[in-house]
Amino acid sequence: MKVTIVGAGAVGASCAEYIAIKDFASEIVLLDIKEGVAEGKAMDLMQTASLNGFDSKIVGVTNDYSKTAGSDVVVITSGIPRKPGMTREELIGINANIVKEVSSNLVKNSPNTVMIVVSNPMDTMTYLVHKTTGLPKSKIIGMGGALDSARFKYNLSQALECPPSDVDGMVLGGHSDTGMIPLSRLATRNSVPVSAFLSEERLNQVAEDTKVGGATLTKLLGTSAWYAPGAAVSALVQAIACDQKKMFPCSALLEGEYGLNDLCIGVPVILGKDGLEKIVEIELNDAEKAKMKESAEGVKKTNAMLTL
Ligand code: LAC
Repeated sequence: MKVTIVGAGAVGASCAEYIAIKDFASEIVLLDIKEGVAEGKAMDLMQTASLNGFDSKIVGVTNDYSKTAGSDVVVITSGIPRKPGMTREELIGINANIVKEVSSNLVKNSPNTVMIVVSNPMDTMTYLVHKTTGLPKSKIIGMGGALDSARFKYNLSQALECPPSDVDGMVLGGHSDTGMIPLSRLATRNSVPVSAFLSEERLNQVAEDTKVGGATLTKLLGTSAWYAPGAAVSALVQAIACDQKKMFPCSALLEGEYGLNDLCIGVPVILGKDGLEKIVEIELNDAEKAKMKESAEGVKKTNAMLTL
C-alpha cells in the first residue's frame, strides 16, 4: 500500500505521522515544492520509527512526481492555509491553480489512485479535481466532514462533561463556517440521544461552536489547525487502505442524491478499497433538508468562481 501526500506543511506532515504510527502503509511519499522541506520532514519522521515502532517507509521529494507513481491513495493538502479572520472561500484564487496542477500531475503517475482533497475551499477544490482529472466519481473525495464531526463530538463531550469516545455524531453539508450542518437530532451518548442530557439552547451553542471550529483555532494559532485535520485524513486513508467499509461524512460528487446535482458536498459515504463505495442517503427532517439546500447554494456560489 503506497500513499502519497502532497504538501509537507503542518497538515500534510501530521497526516504522514498518523499514517506511519498506525503502520498500515508500506510507503508514504511526502511531496512539496519547497526544496528540502519534504525530505527534512520525512527524515525527521523516519527517526521516530524505532521509537514509535512502525515499519512504513517515508520518502520526501521536492516536486518529483515520478516518485509518486503507483500510489493507491493520494492526499492533496497543497495551497495556502487561512489566516485569522479569513474564510476558506477567500483562498480560491491561489489554491485553484495549485490544486489543478497537482491533481493532473498525480493522476498521470497514478491513474488508478483514490484522491483525498484537503485544500480549501475544500468542497470546491474537490469539484475542481473531478473536472480536472476525469477520474470516476468513486475515486475522489473531499475531507471535511470527518474533521467537522470530530470537532462536533469534542464540543458535545465538553457540554456533556464526558470523554469524546462516549459520543457519536455527524456533520453534513459544506465545509464552511456557514455551510456545516451538525446533526444534533441524531447525535448520541452511548446510544442515548444527546437531547436527553442537553437543552435545545445548549445544543444550538454546540452546533454554532462546531461550525466555527476551524476559525476558532485559526484565531488561536495564527494559521489553520493541523492535528485534527491530519488525524481525520489518516482515518479516511486507513478506511480505504484496509478496506474497512467504514462510514464517514465526506465531500462527494452528487448526481441526484439528497436532491442535489453537479456539486461536491458533505454526505455520509462508505469507504473501502475502491474509494467511495456508496453514498448513504439518510432521512433528514424538513429543517435539515432546508439547511442542506442552503449549504449547497453556498458551495455552488463558490464553484461559480472557478474557471474550468
Ligand atoms: C480546518 C481546515 C483544515 O477546518 O479547513 O481546520
